[in-house]
Amino acid sequence: MTEQKATNITWHHHRITTEERERLSGHKGAVVWFTGLSGSGKSTIANLVDELLFLRGCRSYVLDGDNIRHGLNKNLGFSKEDRAENIRRISEVAKLFAQAGVIAITCFISPYRADRDAARALLPPGRFIEVYVECPLEICEQRDPKGLYKKARAGEIKGFTGIDDPYEPPLNPELVLNSASTPAEELARRVVQYLDQQGLLSI
Ligand SMILES: Nc1ncnc2c1ncn2[C@@H]1O[C@H](COP(=O)(O)OP(=O)(O)OP(=O)(O)O)[C@@H](O)[C@H]1O
Ligand SMILES: [Mg+2]
Repeated sequence: MTEQKATNITWHHHRITTEERERLSGHKGAVVWFTGLSGSGKSTIANLVDELLFLRGCRSYVLDGDNIRHGLNKNLGFSKEDRAENIRRISEVAKLFAQAGVIAITCFISPYRADRDAARALLPPGRFIEVYVECPLEICEQRDPKGLYKKARAGEIKGFTGIDDPYEPPLNPELVLNSASTPAEELARRVVQYLDQQGLLSI
Protein backbone atom coordinates (compact mmCIF):
# COMPACT_ATOMS: atom_id res chain seq x y z
CA MET A 1 0.00 0.00 0.00
CA THR A 2 1.29 3.44 -0.90
CA GLU A 3 1.63 5.73 2.08
CA GLN A 4 -0.78 8.66 2.29
CA LYS A 5 1.61 11.57 2.86
CA ALA A 6 -0.64 14.60 2.83
CA THR A 7 -2.83 15.50 5.77
CA ASN A 8 -5.59 18.11 5.95
CA ILE A 9 -7.08 17.07 2.62
CA THR A 10 -10.82 16.78 2.04
CA TRP A 11 -12.62 14.99 -0.77
CA HIS A 12 -14.64 17.43 -2.89
CA HIS A 13 -17.67 15.85 -4.52
CA HIS A 14 -18.45 16.46 -8.19
CA ARG A 15 -21.78 18.07 -9.07
CA ILE A 16 -21.97 15.87 -12.17
CA THR A 17 -22.07 12.14 -11.48
CA THR A 18 -20.34 9.41 -13.46
CA GLU A 19 -23.78 8.12 -14.52
CA GLU A 20 -24.62 11.54 -15.99
CA ARG A 21 -21.32 11.61 -17.85
CA GLU A 22 -21.99 8.09 -19.18
CA ARG A 23 -25.38 9.22 -20.48
CA LEU A 24 -23.61 11.99 -22.36
CA SER A 25 -21.11 9.45 -23.77
CA GLY A 26 -23.89 7.01 -24.66
CA HIS A 27 -21.93 4.16 -23.09
CA LYS A 28 -20.32 3.11 -19.82
CA GLY A 29 -16.95 4.17 -18.51
CA ALA A 30 -14.56 1.23 -18.22
CA VAL A 31 -10.94 0.13 -18.24
CA VAL A 32 -9.75 -2.38 -20.82
CA TRP A 33 -6.46 -3.59 -19.42
CA PHE A 34 -4.11 -5.32 -21.89
CA THR A 35 -1.30 -7.41 -20.42
CA GLY A 36 1.30 -9.64 -22.04
CA LEU A 37 4.93 -9.92 -23.00
CA SER A 38 6.73 -7.21 -24.94
CA GLY A 39 5.94 -7.78 -28.62
CA SER A 40 2.84 -9.86 -27.86
CA GLY A 41 0.71 -7.25 -29.61
CA LYS A 42 -0.88 -5.16 -26.85
CA SER A 43 -0.36 -1.78 -28.53
CA THR A 44 -1.27 -3.08 -31.97
CA ILE A 45 -4.56 -4.64 -30.84
CA ALA A 46 -5.38 -1.85 -28.37
CA ASN A 47 -5.15 0.79 -31.09
CA LEU A 48 -7.37 -1.26 -33.39
CA VAL A 49 -9.93 -1.54 -30.57
CA ASP A 50 -9.66 2.22 -30.03
CA GLU A 51 -10.31 2.79 -33.73
CA LEU A 52 -13.31 0.44 -33.82
CA LEU A 53 -14.78 2.18 -30.79
CA PHE A 54 -14.11 5.61 -32.26
CA LEU A 55 -15.87 4.63 -35.49
CA ARG A 56 -18.87 3.53 -33.42
CA GLY A 57 -18.98 6.93 -31.78
CA CYS A 58 -17.57 5.79 -28.44
CA ARG A 59 -15.19 7.87 -26.35
CA SER A 60 -12.05 5.83 -25.75
CA TYR A 61 -8.39 6.60 -25.19
CA VAL A 62 -5.22 4.50 -25.24
CA LEU A 63 -2.74 4.82 -22.39
CA ASP A 64 0.48 3.24 -23.64
CA GLY A 65 3.54 2.20 -21.64
CA ASP A 66 6.33 3.98 -23.44
CA ASN A 67 4.32 7.18 -23.92
CA ILE A 68 3.47 7.40 -20.23
CA ARG A 69 7.10 6.81 -19.32
CA HIS A 70 7.97 9.91 -21.36
CA GLY A 71 5.80 12.08 -19.12
CA LEU A 72 3.82 11.17 -16.01
CA ASN A 73 6.16 8.30 -15.12
CA LYS A 74 9.47 9.61 -16.45
CA ASN A 75 11.04 9.26 -13.00
CA LEU A 76 10.39 5.48 -12.88
CA GLY A 77 12.59 2.60 -14.05
CA PHE A 78 12.02 -1.13 -14.31
CA SER A 79 12.75 -2.44 -10.81
CA LYS A 80 9.89 -4.36 -9.19
CA GLU A 81 9.09 -1.30 -7.04
CA ASP A 82 9.15 1.10 -9.98
CA ARG A 83 7.07 -1.25 -12.10
CA ALA A 84 4.52 -1.41 -9.26
CA GLU A 85 4.46 2.40 -8.97
CA ASN A 86 4.18 2.70 -12.77
CA ILE A 87 1.11 0.47 -12.75
CA ARG A 88 -0.35 2.12 -9.64
CA ARG A 89 -0.29 5.55 -11.26
CA ILE A 90 -1.68 4.24 -14.54
CA SER A 91 -4.45 2.43 -12.65
CA GLU A 92 -5.44 5.68 -10.97
CA VAL A 93 -5.39 7.57 -14.27
CA ALA A 94 -7.42 4.85 -15.98
CA LYS A 95 -9.95 5.03 -13.15
CA LEU A 96 -10.29 8.79 -13.67
CA PHE A 97 -10.99 8.17 -17.37
CA ALA A 98 -13.67 5.62 -16.48
CA GLN A 99 -15.24 8.06 -14.00
CA ALA A 100 -15.28 10.65 -16.79
CA GLY A 101 -17.39 8.23 -18.86
CA VAL A 102 -14.53 7.23 -21.15
CA ILE A 103 -13.25 3.75 -22.06
CA ALA A 104 -9.58 3.73 -21.07
CA ILE A 105 -7.50 1.18 -22.95
CA THR A 106 -4.18 0.48 -21.29
CA CYS A 107 -1.24 -1.36 -22.83
CA PHE A 108 1.44 -2.14 -20.30
CA ILE A 109 3.33 -5.40 -19.88
CA SER A 110 2.13 -5.21 -16.24
CA PRO A 111 3.93 -8.47 -15.40
CA TYR A 112 2.87 -8.77 -11.76
CA ARG A 113 -0.51 -10.25 -10.85
CA ALA A 114 -0.71 -8.26 -7.61
CA ASP A 115 -0.29 -4.96 -9.48
CA ARG A 116 -3.04 -5.85 -11.97
CA ASP A 117 -5.33 -7.03 -9.18
CA ALA A 118 -4.79 -3.72 -7.41
CA ALA A 119 -5.79 -1.92 -10.63
CA ARG A 120 -8.93 -4.04 -10.84
CA ALA A 121 -9.81 -3.29 -7.22
CA LEU A 122 -10.10 0.44 -8.04
CA LEU A 123 -13.02 -0.13 -10.43
CA PRO A 124 -16.61 -1.24 -9.76
CA PRO A 125 -17.37 -4.88 -10.67
CA GLY A 126 -17.64 -5.42 -14.42
CA ARG A 127 -15.80 -2.23 -15.32
CA PHE A 128 -12.28 -3.69 -15.43
CA ILE A 129 -11.68 -5.97 -18.37
CA GLU A 130 -8.39 -7.79 -18.23
CA VAL A 131 -7.22 -8.86 -21.67
CA TYR A 132 -4.33 -11.29 -21.74
CA VAL A 133 -2.48 -11.19 -25.06
CA GLU A 134 -1.00 -14.66 -25.12
CA CYS A 135 1.99 -15.24 -27.35
CA PRO A 136 4.95 -17.59 -26.90
CA LEU A 137 8.20 -15.88 -25.97
CA GLU A 138 9.90 -17.31 -29.08
CA ILE A 139 7.42 -15.54 -31.34
CA CYS A 140 7.63 -12.26 -29.43
CA GLU A 141 11.37 -12.53 -29.76
CA GLN A 142 11.17 -13.20 -33.51
CA ARG A 143 8.91 -10.16 -33.94
CA ASP A 144 11.07 -7.97 -31.71
CA PRO A 145 9.45 -4.78 -33.10
CA LYS A 146 11.62 -2.46 -30.97
CA GLY A 147 14.81 -4.56 -31.01
CA LEU A 148 14.57 -4.94 -27.24
CA TYR A 149 14.92 -8.73 -27.04
CA LYS A 150 18.13 -8.51 -29.05
CA LYS A 151 19.48 -5.98 -26.57
CA ALA A 152 18.29 -8.05 -23.60
CA ARG A 153 19.96 -11.20 -24.98
CA ALA A 154 23.15 -9.21 -25.50
CA GLY A 155 23.01 -8.14 -21.86
CA GLU A 156 22.46 -4.49 -22.80
CA ILE A 157 19.09 -4.42 -21.00
CA LYS A 158 18.85 -5.99 -17.55
CA GLY A 159 15.61 -7.18 -16.00
CA PHE A 160 13.73 -7.64 -19.27
CA THR A 161 10.38 -9.38 -18.86
CA GLY A 162 10.49 -12.94 -20.18
CA ILE A 163 14.29 -13.01 -20.34
CA ASP A 164 15.60 -12.23 -16.88
CA ASP A 165 12.48 -10.86 -15.20
CA PRO A 166 9.23 -12.73 -14.49
CA TYR A 167 5.85 -12.52 -16.21
CA GLU A 168 2.88 -13.78 -14.21
CA PRO A 169 0.03 -14.70 -16.57
CA PRO A 170 -3.47 -13.74 -15.41
CA LEU A 171 -5.41 -16.52 -13.67
CA ASN A 172 -8.90 -15.26 -14.53
CA PRO A 173 -8.76 -12.71 -17.33
CA GLU A 174 -12.00 -11.64 -18.98
CA LEU A 175 -10.42 -12.38 -22.36
CA VAL A 176 -7.46 -14.35 -23.68
CA LEU A 177 -6.27 -13.38 -27.16
CA ASN A 178 -3.83 -15.64 -28.94
CA SER A 179 -1.86 -13.32 -31.18
CA ALA A 180 0.31 -16.11 -32.55
CA SER A 181 -2.62 -17.78 -34.32
CA THR A 182 -5.17 -15.02 -35.01
CA PRO A 183 -4.78 -11.74 -36.90
CA ALA A 184 -4.82 -8.55 -34.82
CA GLU A 185 -7.94 -7.20 -36.59
CA GLU A 186 -9.93 -10.30 -35.64
CA LEU A 187 -8.73 -10.09 -32.02
CA ALA A 188 -9.72 -6.41 -31.85
CA ARG A 189 -13.21 -7.26 -33.12
CA ARG A 190 -13.46 -9.90 -30.40
CA VAL A 191 -12.68 -7.33 -27.72
CA VAL A 192 -15.33 -4.92 -29.00
CA GLN A 193 -17.85 -7.77 -29.24
CA TYR A 194 -17.12 -8.68 -25.61
CA LEU A 195 -17.60 -5.08 -24.45
CA ASP A 196 -20.88 -4.94 -26.36
CA GLN A 197 -22.10 -8.25 -24.90
CA GLN A 198 -21.33 -6.99 -21.41
CA GLY A 199 -23.55 -3.97 -22.02
CA LEU A 200 -20.64 -1.55 -21.77
CA LEU A 201 -21.21 0.07 -25.15
CA SER A 202 -24.71 1.27 -24.36
CA ILE A 203 -26.47 2.95 -21.46
N1 LIG B 1 -2.04 -11.19 -34.34
C1 LIG B 1 -1.26 -10.17 -34.00
N2 LIG B 1 -1.64 -9.33 -33.04
C2 LIG B 1 -0.85 -8.29 -32.68
N3 LIG B 1 0.35 -8.02 -33.21
C3 LIG B 1 0.79 -8.84 -34.19
C4 LIG B 1 0.02 -9.95 -34.60
N4 LIG B 1 0.71 -10.60 -35.56
C5 LIG B 1 1.85 -9.92 -35.74
N5 LIG B 1 1.92 -8.86 -34.93
C6 LIG B 1 3.05 -7.92 -34.85
O1 LIG B 1 3.67 -8.07 -33.59
C7 LIG B 1 4.17 -6.83 -33.12
C8 LIG B 1 3.53 -6.50 -31.78
O2 LIG B 1 4.09 -5.32 -31.31
P1 LIG B 1 3.38 -4.38 -30.25
O3 LIG B 1 4.19 -3.13 -30.21
O4 LIG B 1 1.92 -4.27 -30.53
O5 LIG B 1 3.58 -5.24 -28.91
P2 LIG B 1 3.40 -4.79 -27.40
O6 LIG B 1 2.77 -5.95 -26.71
O7 LIG B 1 2.70 -3.48 -27.33
O8 LIG B 1 4.91 -4.66 -26.89
P3 LIG B 1 5.54 -3.66 -25.77
O9 LIG B 1 5.18 -4.23 -24.44
O10 LIG B 1 7.01 -3.73 -26.02
O11 LIG B 1 5.00 -2.29 -26.00
C9 LIG B 1 3.82 -5.79 -34.19
O12 LIG B 1 4.93 -5.63 -35.03
C10 LIG B 1 2.65 -6.44 -34.93
O13 LIG B 1 2.55 -6.01 -36.25
MG1 LIG C 1 3.27 -1.61 -26.62
